[in-house]
Amino acid sequence: MRQDIHPRTPVRRLRTERLRSDLKRKFSLELTTALLGMSSAYVRRCLSLKTGTLTLAEVLELLEHDAFSETFVPRSLIPEYLLAGGESLERPRTREWDGKSHVLVKGDARILIQALPSDEIDCVVTSTPYWGTRLYSEHLETKWGDGETCALGHEQTPEGFVRHSVEILHHLKRVMKASGSVWWNLMDTYNTRTQIRASASETLRAMKGRDPRGWGEYECRRYSAGHSYLSDGEQCLIPSRVAERASRIGYWVKSVIYWKKEGSMPETVDSRVTREAEVVIHLAARRTPYFDKSAYGMLPRELGGRNPGQESEKITDVWVLPTASGMDGHGAQFPIALPGRCIGLSTKANDLVLDPFVGSGSTSVAAALLGRKSIGFDVSASYLATARRRVEIAESGRLPNGRIERTDGNTKQGSFDWE
Ligand SMILES: C[S@@+](CC[C@H](N)C(=O)[O-])C[C@H]1O[C@@H](n2cnc3c(N)ncnc32)[C@H](O)[C@@H]1O
Repeated sequence: MRQDIHPRTPVRRLRTERLRSDLKRKFSLELTTALLGMSSAYVRRCLSLKTGTLTLAEVLELLEHDAFSETFVPRSLIPEYLLAGGESLERPRTREWDGKSHVLVKGDARILIQALPSDEIDCVVTSTPYWGTRLYSEHLETKWGDGETCALGHEQTPEGFVRHSVEILHHLKRVMKASGSVWWNLMDTYNTRTQIRASASETLRAMKGRDPRGWGEYECRRYSAGHSYLSDGEQCLIPSRVAERASRIGYWVKSVIYWKKEGSMPETVDSRVTREAEVVIHLAARRTPYFDKSAYGMLPRELGGRNPGQESEKITDVWVLPTASGMDGHGAQFPIALPGRCIGLSTKANDLVLDPFVGSGSTSVAAALLGRKSIGFDVSASYLATARRRVEIAESGRLPNGRIERTDGNTKQGSFDWE
């Protein structure tokens, strides 16, 4: 059951009185620093720490520092989150992809990522649901670390969405190789009162007055009144908040890239500029991830190579790529050129690429065409059926909606044959 979105912020405060008997309990430096939004070097310095653990008393002390900043659990719930010990449980680890090149699994990304072994993934490319923007075919509610139960993208506030995105990034960090990269595609949302629709084409139809439904007849609506500080019509700044928190949980923010779409949606507002860019946040597990800049000049255009006439000779933080055709029954696809470029830049042949929100499988398609292995998760059986069909076509060396020969997987020496 999809709920309407009303910007409600629960009123809570940190209660330390009940924690007396737990003050000496110990927690890992890795988890506590991610929850505190501080680097381990800072925490070690502040506490003159010699070990890799912190007591709850030390965590409470750090919660009083000016340097504290929320990441994926609100301040009032951090002791509870640590004491619940969810992350120290032994989880079953899967190696479902062994022997297979492309694996697509139905389920909740938050749970499935935790079932992956550590240090196996070379590259993550994904586009999560954006906040309060789309209805997907399946609506799966998850209980998040901040206590909210909702589907990703259907939080009551943008703050909730930022926390949940960062919780996913936190779990991804463990499964990434040290040389790995995460490419996180995201678009901002305005705090407005609006209907939530299934696709851009449905929104376009409504703009042209071809949607006869009244406000009350929509399956799901988003309201703007009641937020703790955002006014109606204000931009929420979600991508920059996710990027900042990714840094606070221990990623290197390598770049915030603007993806200028060749065909962007019209917007009917006169008081501001029209948006034509989405964001791709490039994160790394260390300062120098594997990175092959030459892929930009070597890849075919459909797989993310330079877009002549639109992009310069050197690769910059503005990418001009087409929007997806939307022909595959998914209302929020990205073009194969987007994951293609990310994969080409940050992996080698046979490396393992993960898309935890794989939808119609664009990331797996790009991985197959570039000779990489892939894992994709999605909650929707129908999207996964589309993804399987598209990956099968890609494995035979063709683009699902076009023509391309498979590359030899080596972007450095690859020569690409065109039909
Ligand atoms: C923006 S779309 C991704 C589209 C994809 N990049 C493509 O090109 O087809 C986000 C996807 O996340 C899926 N999704 C939403 N919540 C999820 C969850 N908790 N776990 C896994 N997938 C989820 C949706 O079904 C949707 O397909």
